[in-house]
Amino acid sequence: MEATADIGLIGLAVMGQNLALNIADHGFKVAVYNRTTATMKDFVAHHASTPGGLVGCATTQELVRAVKRPRKFIILVKAGPAVDAVVEELIAAGVEQDDIVVDCGNSLWTDTIRREKGYSARCKFFGSGVSGGEVGARFGPSLMPGGDPNSWQHLKPIWEAVAAKVDEQTGKPIETGAPGKPVVGGVPCTAYLGPNGAGHYVKMVHNGIEYIDMQLIAEAYTLLRDLLGMRADELGRVFARWNDGDLDSYLIQITADILGQRDPHDPNAFLVDRVLDAAGQKGTGKWTSVNALDMGIPANAIAEAVFARCLSALKEERVAASGQLQGPNTPPFAGDRAALTDAVRDALYCSKICAYAQGFQLMREAQKEYAWKLDFGTIAAIFRGGCIIRARFLQKITDAYRRNPELVNLLLDPYFKEQITRAQGNWRHVIGLASAHGIAAPAFMSALAYYDGYRSQHLPANLIQAQRDYFGAHTYERVDRPRGEFFHTAWPESGRPEQAVRGSGGH
Ligand code: 6PG
Repeated sequence: MEATADIGLIGLAVMGQNLALNIADHGFKVAVYNRTTATMKDFVAHHASTPGGLVGCATTQELVRAVKRPRKFIILVKAGPAVDAVVEELIAAGVEQDDIVVDCGNSLWTDTIRREKGYSARCKFFGSGVSGGEVGARFGPSLMPGGDPNSWQHLKPIWEAVAAKVDEQTGKPIETGAPGKPVVGGVPCTAYLGPNGAGHYVKMVHNGIEYIDMQLIAEAYTLLRDLLGMRADELGRVFARWNDGDLDSYLIQITADILGQRDPHDPNAFLVDRVLDAAGQKGTGKWTSVNALDMGIPANAIAEAVFARCLSALKEERVAASGQLQGPNTPPFAGDRAALTDAVRDALYCSKICAYAQGFQLMREAQKEYAWKLDFGTIAAIFRGGCIIRARFLQKITDAYRRNPELVNLLLDPYFKEQITRAQGNWRHVIGLASAHGIAAPAFMSALAYYDGYRSQHLPANLIQAQRDYFGAHTYERVDRPRGEFFHTAWPESGRPEQAVRGSGGH
């Protein structure tokens, strides 16, 4: 087989097929391989005339021979051992040290770091996050590449061509193209993020933010439904209206669509009311939360979103408990409905600001840990189009980091500060109502606790330190002595005076 393809792609499930078509639409020839040959043959037969062209390969040897040097391959298989199996297969089929193998799955960033190192003598392993689901893959995803910078130079033309595009002036996503007619112009939603696992790390945090964004929307929905007794289609109209303001985003837009959808089996009912309330998860939100715990970063709202899914999944237990555990006896809400709707919107916006502050704080810490130089303005910029969390709001984050690249926390940016100052009364009011009416709103509450904790000069951790010292001689620092000086007190029984324990840290 003659080497004519610009890139090879392994894994023709829906994401792989759509990404291959997207690449071919931009004039690149794509060699495709799938473990089940019939899938590959069907795919190539159905798409015989793409601008770039597809080359069907029945074996990995054929695939390797079909791609021009420097050879580039995309792997789109399930994250985990399948990635290593495919890389080994490619190497056995003739992939060489200078060939670039890009993992576009939702892989754990530490696996990507390990793989880049482990395969370095045999190929250039590269990681790229891909967000935007099936439609994104087909017409423009957000792409988060990380790995060897020289390899990036070879990938860049393809990545920039196939990524979603946003308007240069407004930062708004440009409408998706159509088969064979890709979007022309605009700023691509991709940028080189850093070496080894940086791309997959940023994609993981994107997903953690996706979890909390979804949970916050779900809480706004449940509050309006349960406090105001609104029907799904009415709620859909509220979300559609919100989508014209600061909350303008893909997730709010699909929420409006979902709420208006009738049940195909019963046109009198709304489908959302027939969907079982037990959320699934594949693990990226959990990875984000575990990493936050490992690094000691308070991403509590993101973790709360994961736990909220866990709690939802205990469906049978909840049903049983609902017959036994009492809530409050608060009379039904009888206040101003329009004002409450606006208050819920404000609560959602304030909580969202805190959630993003946590996600970006996490990335800030990770860059220290891994010696990356993440550009947060650019990260927010490539989230503006194509990905699941795309939103008008992201332009504000880009602006904040462009104003001050060293910004310690998004909450300290003048725009976000002003937004929360303006809306926090409503945020607190909504949380008060949720509590008074016994409606679970864990992410709203957790975000507010983060906000109040972060802005507190004094937290009750003085008491915790004293307790730790009391029962375990773990030592404490004093407010009237320099940081880093540690003290232990022989608590009440002995009456012995405190002793200074010098050293770099307590225990
Ligand atoms: C994206 C999505 C995508 C996937 C999630 C779903 O950015 O396109 O995040 O990666 O839909 O992994 O995750 P859960 O199944 O864990 O909700």
